[in-house]
Amino acid sequence: MQDNTSLEILLVTPPGFEEILRAEVTEKGFKKAKILTGGVIIKGGWPEVYRANLQLRGASKVLVRLGSFRAFHLSELDKKARQFPWNDFLNPRTPIRVDVSTSKSKIYHKKAAVERIERALEEILHCEADPEAGLQIKVRLFKDICTISLDSSGEGLHKRGSKEALNKAPLRETLAALSLRACGFKGKEPVIDPMCGSGTFILEAAEIASRLDAGRNRAFAFETLKNFDPKAWKTVKEKSNPCAVEDRFFGFDRDKGAISFATANAERAQVSAITSFTRQTLSNIQAPKGPAGLMITNPPYGTRIGDQKKLLPLYQSLGNKFRSDFNGWRLGLITNSDRLAHATGLDFKKTPIAFSHGGINVKLYQTEG
Ligand SMILES: C[S@@+](CC[C@H](N)C(=O)[O-])C[C@H]1O[C@@H](n2cnc3c(N)ncnc32)[C@H](O)[C@@H]1O
Repeated sequence: MQDNTSLEILLVTPPGFEEILRAEVTEKGFKKAKILTGGVIIKGGWPEVYRANLQLRGASKVLVRLGSFRAFHLSELDKKARQFPWNDFLNPRTPIRVDVSTSKSKIYHKKAAVERIERALEEILHCEADPEAGLQIKVRLFKDICTISLDSSGEGLHKRGSKEALNKAPLRETLAALSLRACGFKGKEPVIDPMCGSGTFILEAAEIASRLDAGRNRAFAFETLKNFDPKAWKTVKEKSNPCAVEDRFFGFDRDKGAISFATANAERAQVSAITSFTRQTLSNIQAPKGPAGLMITNPPYGTRIGDQKKLLPLYQSLGNKFRSDFNGWRLGLITNSDRLAHATGLDFKKTPIAFSHGGINVKLYQTEG
């Protein structure tokens, strides 16, 4: 069992973004961040768990390793699951969801393993299994070692708590923040999204620039734990240090609904004063007065055969607009097709970051600069 000051904390991120997340983790003062596929590992106590949930924009979940034991057979899993110190972390009668993954282990039957863990939790703490529960235990069997982790976040961290109005195909906030960082955005330059939909890039950029905590408007699963320390949580939240910035985050979209969604989302996120959302088609957008900055966007993708051809003119006009009116700016472009990206006629860096978004394989293309 681990002591409570050097817990192993896994910050989950979509594969492809590990390096970018590590940069954020290090910048935000977490020590000795190590990369693994699909995440970054840090060590710390529960206050670090709270802080990671509150502050990290690129992590999709914060998992805490509670302990591990060897289990070759289901009967051994059954016995050791009953001996596990659940009592230290969980309140009795908390609805709980158990998720098991297994590889290279004698126990290969996931459902049977889930049943053993659920039964132990029910007998010891009268916790009822509920697939919809906000609290989730993640059990990983690998080479016969059973590792038990707790999802301290609850709902995915892309849910910042301020976005109610959703347009079609919104980008996850976590991916928007990681993409902004990958494009070199440090909160000190204007950002434009010419096809902003519900405004995800612009809201993230405005919040980053204002140094607002990502999770300030939401609740977390760790707040329901038995060992939750409200005083430590208050201290973590009190360290928040927002700053005033000038108006420089601009979203445009041709769709009226998208603009009203984005505007309402900005109000809820308390960044209306530094963002503007305007109904405008791509061909009519002009660069704002003042210094050059970052244009970042995810235009419609072609997911079906035939769609891509129809979208070629849109990507061509994005390239034309960028070249003619955005001298000195950089472009970050997320799309699922090399053909569409290259239809812009722009020179992109050689290795775009590839990742999955909503089950679609996409890439972040970046111009040099
Ligand atoms: C994939 S969505 C963007 C989603 C957005 N990143 C978000 O998180 O909500 C693409 C957007 O491009 C807009 N769009 C498509 N063609 C456009 C054009 N010619 N001019 C301006 N906006 C356009 C659509 O209305 C749609 O909102």
